[in-house]
Amino acid sequence: MFKVLVVDDEPQIREVFELILEANDSIEVFFAASGNLAIQLLQEQKDVGLIFCDYRMDDGSGGDVFKWVSENLPQTCFTLVSTYEPNRLEGFENFYSRPELYQYISKPFSAEKILKMVSDKSANSEKFSEYARIKLNTILTFRGKIKADVFVKIHEDKMVKIIDAHDDLDQDILQRYIDKSMHWGYVFHDKAQAMMKTKLGETDTLIQKIKTEIKFEDKGNLVLDALDNVREIIQTQGFNEAILKTADKSVIETLQFLDQTKGLKDLLSLFSKRGSYISNHGLLTAYFSNSLIQRLEWNTSELRKKIAIASLFQNISLQSEELAQIHSTIDDSFEECSLQDQKIVIEHPRLSSEILEAKEFFDSDVLNLILNHHESPYGNGFPRSIDSTLLSPIDGVIILSSHLAKEVLLNHSKELTVMVQDFNEIYNKGNFKKIYRALLQVLMRDIS
Ligand SMILES: [Fe+2]
Repeated sequence: MFKVLVVDDEPQIREVFELILEANDSIEVFFAASGNLAIQLLQEQKDVGLIFCDYRMDDGSGGDVFKWVSENLPQTCFTLVSTYEPNRLEGFENFYSRPELYQYISKPFSAEKILKMVSDKSANSEKFSEYARIKLNTILTFRGKIKADVFVKIHEDKMVKIIDAHDDLDQDILQRYIDKSMHWGYVFHDKAQAMMKTKLGETDTLIQKIKTEIKFEDKGNLVLDALDNVREIIQTQGFNEAILKTADKSVIETLQFLDQTKGLKDLLSLFSKRGSYISNHGLLTAYFSNSLIQRLEWNTSELRKKIAIASLFQNISLQSEELAQIHSTIDDSFEECSLQDQKIVIEHPRLSSEILEAKEFFDSDVLNLILNHHESPYGNGFPRSIDSTLLSPIDGVIILSSHLAKEVLLNHSKELTVMVQDFNEIYNKGNFKKIYRALLQVLMRDIS
């Protein structure tokens, strides 16, 4: 039975919901007359699938309920029912970060809209809860080792099976989907878990190999492979102790590799032969930020590691290579995005930081660096658009490094000296000045 909770302090609204939903035998509806009563009820009924919630209520607001739900029931769908847009309401700052879960309907609403929402969510909860999302490329690598039914999502609420577990995996079928830019498939959770466990073991072996490899390019490829793997495992499975251990080892090896890197040229030649922008960008951000703190003489081993973790995991919440390439909301590429993609871009620093928040490996300094990696000296960055005087010098290091890494990777034809001039206008001011000047010195070394 699909469970729905309606939270509203007006009895008439609760009655309207009751009338709309009572005819549907496959759902069970609960009612709460205040935010606090809703939270109390949710502590007992943790399997509620969809919440319709008013904003203005005396005893616990819709903001209080949303905060509690997003922290305690992160897979539960929450629909705000209000006369006000969520972005104008306190407590809803990251509301649009997960459009698949969090939605808004304005009052007055139609019965049709409510019914459609309930039927979509209940169908999805039944249909999709048993699947885990996994890269089609990864499934290809398990050919012959783990047999699995493979599905792709062809529509928001429709999956089709493209491979049967009993058949031999047809590489061409998967390749055809990959060629059509469909990079993600779905398998049952137990299969995904088995694949990720094997992948984790392979990643540990790969990290061992980094230590013994002498050739720069081979070592760099192993470092990037390890980082790609760690990112995919976290995105597919979240964390456990073994994954954290491997993530930690990958960061340590990355730092050692950066110490052996002679200059930007070597790294760029390594990147030119690889496809993943997100990993290349993470490593290049780590290179610039590591060089910067050395130049500024802030390079304690503790800070070096924190800033490397922030650089490498800044975009862990993003699946799309294209969206990761947007640094600022004034970029043309941002303007060209759909509204939904714009929301994903704006909220990704907050979401990346939230994904990592659960584990002490990512302490509060690292989480803040990730949260702030798209803020700006003009106070027009995202997600918080905070005043630049509130940013720490280390925030400045990661912001400049992440921005420069994007420019270097995407504007091959632009000379580094021209990029520096553009950066002069943006960053040679206020509390960014010192870091910008240090960056100039770092780049002089790379240019010469
Ligand atoms: Fe980012």
